[in-house]
Amino acid sequence: MTRTLIRGGLVITAAEEVAADVLVEGEQVVALAATGSAVAGSWTAERVIDATGCYVIPGGVDAHTHMELPFGGTAASDTFETGTRAAAWGGTTTIVDFAVQSVGASLRAGLDSWHAKAEGNCAIDYAFHMILSDVTEDSLKEMDLLVGEGITSFKLFMAYPGVFYSDDGRILRAMQRGAENGGLIMMHAENGIAIDVLVEQALAAGKTAPRYHGEVRRELLEAEATHRAIKLAQVAGAPLYVVHVSAESAVAELAAARDLGLPVFGETCPQYLFLSTDNLAEEGADGFEGAKYVCSTPLRPREHQAALWRGLRTNDLQVVSTDHCPFCFTGQKELGRGDFSKIPNGLPGVENRMDLLHQAVVDGHVSRRRWIEIACATPARMFGLYPRKGTIAPGSDADLVVYDPQAVQTLSAATHHMNVDYSAYEGRRITGRARTVLSRGTVVIEDGAYLGRAGHGRFQPRATCQYLD
Ligand code: URP
Ligand code: ZN
Ligand code: ZN
Repeated sequence: MTRTLIRGGLVITAAEEVAADVLVEGEQVVALAATGSAVAGSWTAERVIDATGCYVIPGGVDAHTHMELPFGGTAASDTFETGTRAAAWGGTTTIVDFAVQSVGASLRAGLDSWHAKAEGNCAIDYAFHMILSDVTEDSLKEMDLLVGEGITSFKLFMAYPGVFYSDDGRILRAMQRGAENGGLIMMHAENGIAIDVLVEQALAAGKTAPRYHGEVRRELLEAEATHRAIKLAQVAGAPLYVVHVSAESAVAELAAARDLGLPVFGETCPQYLFLSTDNLAEEGADGFEGAKYVCSTPLRPREHQAALWRGLRTNDLQVVSTDHCPFCFTGQKELGRGDFSKIPNGLPGVENRMDLLHQAVVDGHVSRRRWIEIACATPARMFGLYPRKGTIAPGSDADLVVYDPQAVQTLSAATHHMNVDYSAYEGRRITGRARTVLSRGTVVIEDGAYLGRAGHGRFQPRATCQYLD
């Protein structure tokens, strides 16, 4: 078995920071010892990586991606191959993507087709959540089977009527089933029925530009849906994980529920922490530039960012995922020229999350350990991958990043590796960068070169939520 030694770095996990050498055998971490100690000094290895001046952190766990998702009349532009390669460049070594149940079809059919898309193509490890688009007696039964196969979380939508939408009765049934079989319900919390009325009224009034996407998807309708989802989960006796939280008032709903002791969790995304309605209002040459920033929940006025950062510090929000769902500006976002409701919803970001969050450390929003907690450890625990993923300990997978906290980079579509023709963070200067990335003991990124291969990444069956333990 190949032995790899990472020497001289500052090892950072959610729990501690320690100057330590890390010994890897094959695919796993086997030992840590204080740098300079007799134990560490006795170690030999075929490959020695000098991490002096760098952090050694667990590979990022991005618990919300949509590679190749058919959506909005097109499909997300990153395949499992291009998207997981880009993730590796950015120091993320596990993604949890969303398999989709089509209306009228089984969960099995949806899951099989996502397995077929991913298998043999991924550069890093991957797992699946399941989107429930059609809650029926049959699909409720299938939930039990999927939990047994390591698909232990299910996303429901209060938005997108006619596509993924479920009404309250269906949501309640799925939550009740989840309470029985251990499946964690993830919620897209926006009142889609009310939003569709506002969309129709806006278009009728000639309001067609991208910025109206943000105006009709009102903050109140995110807060209302978040509140309703919490109450439905309470009735069902089920835990709840609210995805892509963007509004201050939605954070307040989560905080109030948590203050009551309810098992309610929330995720936000870099776009809500770093971007705002100012971006949605960008006009460019022809008034359509803002389409690059159309996602749902939508970007909010920048005043909301402080509440999101606070929520991350107080643990009213536990996870930062990307909701990576890229669509090229040319030919894809352009489907919504003249009608903002036809702009495919979603932003790229799987490559940028670890760096943007390191910038948040530099800027004083979160501590280094909290960075690792929200980006690695908690997503792993929330979705049943811990301690295989999300930490550095004997027995953990050797998903490791040697992170240079002093490197300066400028984010740009010209240099990123995501298969999308723009960057949502174009021109943003970031301090910090992944220098070396290992996936299960294999070096996949080293000093500006990709050394990985499609097919290295393996499907990871997951345990049920470990954040409740
Ligand atoms: O705009 C978004 N978020 N697109 C992806 C689908 C979803 O709702 O997560
Ligand atoms: Zn969603
Ligand atoms: Zn999503």
